[in-house]
Amino acid sequence: MKYLVTGGAGYVGSVVAQHLLEAGHEVTVLDNLSTGFRAGVPAGAAFIEGDIRDAAKWLDPSFDGVLHFAAFSQVGESVVKPEKYWDNNVGGSMALLAAMREAGVRKLVFSSTAATYGEPERTPIPETAPTRPTSPYGASKLAVDHMITGEAHAHGLAAVSLRYFNVAGAYGAYGERHDPESHLIPLVLQVAQGRRDAISVFGDDYPTADGTCVRDYIHVADLAEAHLLAVRAATPGEHLICNLGNGNGFSVRQVIETVREVTGHPIPEVVAPRRGGDPAVLVASADTAREKLGWNPTRADLAGIVADAWEFAQSITREH
Ligand SMILES: NC(=O)c1ccc[n+]([C@@H]2O[C@H](COP(=O)([O-])OP(=O)(O)OC[C@H]3O[C@@H](n4cnc5c(N)ncnc54)[C@H](O)[C@@H]3O)[C@@H](O)[C@H]2O)c1
Repeated sequence: MKYLVTGGAGYVGSVVAQHLLEAGHEVTVLDNLSTGFRAGVPAGAAFIEGDIRDAAKWLDPSFDGVLHFAAFSQVGESVVKPEKYWDNNVGGSMALLAAMREAGVRKLVFSSTAATYGEPERTPIPETAPTRPTSPYGASKLAVDHMITGEAHAHGLAAVSLRYFNVAGAYGAYGERHDPESHLIPLVLQVAQGRRDAISVFGDDYPTADGTCVRDYIHVADLAEAHLLAVRAATPGEHLICNLGNGNGFSVRQVIETVREVTGHPIPEVVAPRRGGDPAVLVASADTAREKLGWNPTRADLAGIVADAWEFAQSITREH
């Protein structure tokens, strides 16, 4: 099969593109390199340096489907520059859907997010939970989910939205290198590398066992496997929404302690005020992905996730 992977020069897109290639598919990456890296495009994939808003230039009926990762995803930035998120995430996705309709490409897997739920009423969070995003980033992703539902019902698109919780780890030469970095594991690893003096813990008075926020960390390779299952499961006229997480929560302090164990570095920490819009606990119920996709994540061990991320962080530092 031949797939267009938007955002395939970024963290998750590059790992999924590599998995598609390993499964024998043909892959074209479309990425404008706004936050991605040319080196992130797997060898063996065709590369178009371009914007999803211009997808009509390149989409043609030879494609069997699109895996859509291209977006801006910094929650904090979205609060101060909401228009940037509506323009790229919503405007870009609208143009992509129009190009797909025009070219007769009728299968889509979309990167949605736990941020569509906002502050949960209960955990683990099922897909039926209320969607009340607390940032323009989450709102922009939820808007695209709604757009896709309409496209499936009105125009027969076969679609799956995958709502990732906290993606972490690396897969071979492909891993996380956001700039600025906002994700906990790579930030703590920067302390281990001496690139940062200490890790900030935003709030230690949450109603959790050690007072710090609890998140569900999912290995990027487990996540990639869900995408391959999703392209197979997508059904014309239906929009399936699945959470992707392990169903286990780890606190910020547990993550820091695990990084200490993996790297042998003492990792100084500094307690800082809570950030607005950070729920105390975000843990997924991934029962739908298990039932409808047959997904079975196998890399839930936090030390293993951190070890893979650590190996990748060291490899890119050696490159520079
Ligand atoms: N990383 C996570 O923990 C996480 C969690 C939930 C959801 N997501 C979603 O997963 C997707 C991938 O996230 P990531 O962490 O790999 O981010 P990333 O920034 O590493 O990758 C995004 C890629 O999209 C490209 N891009 C952005 N706008 C574009 C445009 N208009 N045209 C073409 N290319 C464009 C960027 O250059 C980049 O390569 C995003 O949609 C994000 O919202 C990520």
